Amino acid sequence: MVSRRTSRVAVSLLGLVLLAGIRYALRWRSNPSPCPYSQRVWIDLPRPGITHSKLRTLLDPRPGERILELGPGTGYYTGTIAQAVEPNGTVHAADVQQAMVEHLHVRTRQQGHRNVEPIRGDGQQLPYPDDSFDAAYLVLVLGEIPDQERALGELERILKPGGRLVVGESLPDPHFVTLETLKRRAERQGLEFEDHGGTRVGYFARFGIQPMGDYRSH
Ligand SMILES: C[S@@+](CC[C@H](N)C(=O)[O-])C[C@H]1O[C@@H](n2cnc3c(N)ncnc32)[C@H](O)[C@@H]1O
Repeated sequence: MVSRRTSRVAVSLLGLVLLAGIRYALRWRSNPSPCPYSQRVWIDLPRPGITHSKLRTLLDPRPGERILELGPGTGYYTGTIAQAVEPNGTVHAADVQQAMVEHLHVRTRQQGHRNVEPIRGDGQQLPYPDDSFDAAYLVLVLGEIPDQERALGELERILKPGGRLVVGESLPDPHFVTLETLKRRAERQGLEFEDHGGTRVGYFARFGIQPMGDYRSH
């Protein structure tokens, strides 16, 4: 039998752990920074809300396309998209951490994909020419970037007219960006909201390039 005193102590301890977790998450949110390579175990866990097939449906990658993945991390989704653009298509992948770039290179080669080109790069200043990609995607990345609007503007810049951008977000990522905030920031950069799948706490959202107007400020 558990005494009343023991259960009170257990409840108090649980409350303290929860509070510490919330404080930690809030501190992370107010200081956007890349998920450290040493924490990669978290990004390899299964994601029932934002699955490979949901990303594939919304992004609609086609054979021969040139696609950019921003912040691929260890490559949770990369192989799926690389396979979809085969035989002549390529997935370029830019991550700000060299350790992630190397991990992705090894993982995709082990999976048998020769059409993935990982490089070190910052989403706020992408090392690619204007209008050079058919589509781009980023999952659990935007909230880690200090200047989100600049990164969205960069994605708009490198996409061809008619190109597609898919952004994925899900709780409990401490840098979670709500769909409403994402839409506001993306639309200010000339990206037009088209569709989304999922729920308020785990979603993929697709944007297209507005045909008229020049939103490029850099
Ligand atoms: C939470 S992980 C998600 C990785 C992967 N997209 C996934 O879904 O598993 C975020 C990744 O974004 C990268 N990242 C953060 N800020 C970045 C930036 N400014 N430019 C490029 N990559 C960035 C991190 O290095 C990390 O690999």
